[in-house]
Amino acid sequence: MTADNVKRRRALVAGGASGIGAATAVRLTATGADVLIADIDAAKGARLAGEIGATFVAVDLTDHVAVSAALAQRDPFDILVNSAGADQHAFFTQTGPQDWARLIALNLGAVLNTTHAVLPGMQQVGYGRIVNVASEAGRLGSKGASVYAAAKGGVIAFTRSIARENGRMGITANVVAPGPIDTPMLRRAIEDGGEKLMTAMTSATLVGRLGTPQETAAVIAFLASDEAGYVTGEVLGASGGMGCGA
Ligand SMILES: NC(=O)c1ccc[n+]([C@@H]2O[C@H](COP(=O)([O-])OP(=O)(O)OC[C@H]3O[C@@H](n4cnc5c(N)ncnc54)[C@H](O)[C@@H]3O)[C@@H](O)[C@H]2O)c1
Repeated sequence: MTADNVKRRRALVAGGASGIGAATAVRLTATGADVLIADIDAAKGARLAGEIGATFVAVDLTDHVAVSAALAQRDPFDILVNSAGADQHAFFTQTGPQDWARLIALNLGAVLNTTHAVLPGMQQVGYGRIVNVASEAGRLGSKGASVYAAAKGGVIAFTRSIARENGRMGITANVVAPGPIDTPMLRRAIEDGGEKLMTAMTSATLVGRLGTPQETAAVIAFLASDEAGYVTGEVLGASGGMGCGA
């Protein structure tokens, strides 16, 4: 299976300034796609875009109006990758409505915002590849990240619904569900949770180690490729087997 058939495609990588999104932007650009990185981190996003020959737009993906405005003149996209996200490690009773609203706005709302902006253009052209980065937490639940897991479960159900609504229009929609991937997001969690959390995460995988952003990007790139046209509504774990059987 080759993941490199994305030549001349126009791709939007939301959350592409760091971690899995950045590795995806690098990979898609290297394989010939014309990539727009959209991220709230202007310094990192602009730097990466400059380095790899992509374009960058600074936007808060949780803001529907801002997302529509940022993407208005840039349609149509062939590929949409949603990778922006963040978690919070606390038991549910230690969190409150402000935490829930923030987690849901970013991990689920941002996916709705970009899809709403990009999907009509894909429908007009009759081609699209949507790849949403959820989490194994969205299939398995997560002790200490319940609302994050709920939002990611929502991403899975939303993606499958978009796949159902658009399958006959040449548009696929799939989910990549990472396990513990060595990115700035994971490093922040390990700073809070320490070596104990690191051990718990790696031992929950079958391969006994963290994944790399590049390994995750390879899975995303496959689902974003022309060749993956007969794959839709799927959840593909990139988690060292953590979700095996889910
Ligand atoms: N790293 C892991 O172990 C892991 C595991 C499962 C799922 N995931 C998911 O993978 C995705 C990528 O995570 P990562 O580990 O690469 O994290 P990361 O922190 O390295 O990257 C996340 C990116 O999202 C951007 N972002 C955050 N809030 C934003 C907003 N409001 N508007 C625009 N951009 C915003 C950040 O600036 C950053 O560039 C996330 O959806 C995350 O939930 C990661």
